Amino acid sequence: MTKKFSEIYREISFEEIEEKWENVNKPINVYIHSPFCKSICKFCYYKGTLFNQQEYERYYDKYLPKLIEMYKDILEKKEIKTWFFGGGTPSLLDTQRLEKLFSSLPNFKQRGEKTFELHPAFWSMEQLDILKKYNFDNVIIGIQTFDQETLKNQNRIPATFEEIKKITEELKKRNIRVSYDIIGFLNDKEDDRKILRSDLELAYELNPDEITVQTHYDYKEKYDEFLIQDVLTSSLYLSGEYLSLSEILKIKSEGQINKFDSNFLKEEFKSLKTMRFFKEELSKKMQNFEIFKFIKGMDEVLTSENDLLSMAGHVDPVLGIGSYKNKLKNTFSNLNSNEHYVEINYDNNPKFYMVLEHDFFREMQKLLEIIKKVGPPPRGVKFNFENQIPTKDGNTIYQRPFLIKYNIFYDYLFYDENHKKEIQEYMNKLSQEIEIYSNNH
Ligand SMILES: C[S@@+](CC[C@H](N)C(=O)[O-])C[C@H]1O[C@@H](n2cnc3c(N)ncnc32)[C@H](O)[C@@H]1O
Ligand code: SF4
Repeated sequence: MTKKFSEIYREISFEEIEEKWENVNKPINVYIHSPFCKSICKFCYYKGTLFNQQEYERYYDKYLPKLIEMYKDILEKKEIKTWFFGGGTPSLLDTQRLEKLFSSLPNFKQRGEKTFELHPAFWSMEQLDILKKYNFDNVIIGIQTFDQETLKNQNRIPATFEEIKKITEELKKRNIRVSYDIIGFLNDKEDDRKILRSDLELAYELNPDEITVQTHYDYKEKYDEFLIQDVLTSSLYLSGEYLSLSEILKIKSEGQINKFDSNFLKEEFKSLKTMRFFKEELSKKMQNFEIFKFIKGMDEVLTSENDLLSMAGHVDPVLGIGSYKNKLKNTFSNLNSNEHYVEINYDNNPKFYMVLEHDFFREMQKLLEIIKKVGPPPRGVKFNFENQIPTKDGNTIYQRPFLIKYNIFYDYLFYDENHKKEIQEYMNKLSQEIEIYSNNH
């Protein structure tokens, strides 16, 4: 059942927000939003706002500077762990405005790990120089796929292999780490498997520091298993140099390279939606998600008890700055585990709304108690937490994957009879425990 906007949000003044930030004692992660895109890719979960010169100028020359000024005290006083420039398409920013933006952030050059999202069809050498000048650490290149036909079908402005090669080389010259975003199964066809394999081959050839592979959200349930098999097998035999998470390390050390079966997945796989591959020589710090933890925390579908526990236990503070007419995904801020707010901007005037769903974490804790009792789920059983929040017009619903409502789902398709039985038994046990729990509370 969808609730009304007013049941979920309470408008809050900026003074109150400032006061709340005063009480946050941890280092914070700052997200700065670039709303515009030159075309709206069909697959996109974030759906930027279609570029319009006038709106663009108003946003970067008036709206964002005003907000940064409002947050100035907080940005000056707090320890800043990470800065993330995401969107939309931050790399649409022209060099003058980019410089102006960076120089308006207090002590920006000297503080925090810095990451910038770059659309490979929109970038310039001067832009990379500015990133270097301001000590950027990471650039994420949105490749999605090298397959030009797929990009066209998805209404995405394409970039060629050669262009991506060039950007990668230029970033490396400047000592900036390069991360690639790849999405699998964009066409919903059997061919997708071939495309994904070839995308990985091409990506490895360019030797980035990190590759993130995701299933297209809409199809994730259907393709998780394929993704695991395709991505892991190809990564293992294509390149000994890249490591995925600890799983690959483990399989390698046990010499089970061709074996993709239940046991290690069951215990080891934490999130099936996203897989990250790191260069071997990268520091331990990076492999442990220290750098990209912020991204992970912002937007992850949770699939294991450990993930749930870490989410429930500590949500890193996130200060989200900037938004423009996005019905699907408002810019949000996390003050702590229980307090979140969003910034909404339809007329170049920011409005702030506290999210009132405090019960979520309690609900999540309850389910965690039950899961702990029943034990870790077998492969094929997933817990997906998401909220559905209506926008102000009451019609459109956007989702933030890690809040509010949970679904438990399981999938029989891929398993043998024994494993199906295991899933069934687990589900029965879980329902019993949920019932006992509900009767006692
Ligand atoms: C919001 S985009 C911003 C960067 C830039 N606009 C670009 O497209 O390169 C960040 C990343 O989100 C991922 N993404 C967007 N929609 C997705 C979807 N439906 N499923 C999986 N990943 C998605 C893409 O991999 C993309 O690189
Ligand atoms: S994938 Fe990037 S360019 Fe495409 S609509 Fe989403 S944010 Fe815009």
